[in-house]
Amino acid sequence: RLADMRGLREGRLTLAIVSTAQYFLPRLLGQFCDANPGIEVALTVTNRQAVLARLAAGEDDLCILGTPPEGLDVVAAAIADNPLVIIARPDHPLASETEIPPERVAEEAFILRERGSGTRLAVERFFRARGLTLPVRMELGSNEAIKQAVIGGLGLAALSRDTLALEGAVGIVRVLDVAGFPLLRQWQAAYPRGKHLSVAAEAFLDHLAAHARDAVRDSGRVLPGRTGAAMAGS
Ligand code: PGA
Repeated sequence: RLADMRGLREGRLTLAIVSTAQYFLPRLLGQFCDANPGIEVALTVTNRQAVLARLAAGEDDLCILGTPPEGLDVVAAAIADNPLVIIARPDHPLASETEIPPERVAEEAFILRERGSGTRLAVERFFRARGLTLPVRMELGSNEAIKQAVIGGLGLAALSRDTLALEGAVGIVRVLDVAGFPLLRQWQAAYPRGKHLSVAAEAFLDHLAAHARDAVRDSGRVLPGRTGAAMAGS
């Protein structure tokens, strides 16, 4: 395609993504916009429930969610892994244990995301399926605030692993070895079935299929010069 060789000269791309995708998606957009300098992008970052509402209303070209949308007539494609982990402060008694039973984890105070969050839905489903309820110490509507609350000693939390690249690397939060975790999920790119995708949206979908796995793997690592190398092959 001509657009692949020269880049798109004009167009508009509107995206709605769940909060956790902000740790890799903007970098993918950077590569994409380098290759397609004429494209104007509008990005909405919100939680799963709000993204699902936007998807149902067809408000955006593409939506990015942490797991497949349920109950909607949409096209959804898995683009990369999205593992969910349980975290604690490094001096937490569970931090040095292995194969921790979920029953033991459910005795600890938990910091949960707000209702409507996909992260919260996934972790509550996991424990509910085992007849367990997490003791909620606090609800927070932000992944960043949750990490700070864990560091502050307020309790354990479940977060998408992509949120942890920086804190994990410097060792101020610890991923716990809980039986059944990481919970394996897949990032999804979705749009309403039958929606006519713009050239820009199709090109970005191709870009996601080609590069999302690498971007998620490199999450949090700044790799100078990589953009050019990654784009050369596309
Ligand atoms: P959330 O979605 O931002 O609504 O928690 C993230 C996810 O489902 O991974």
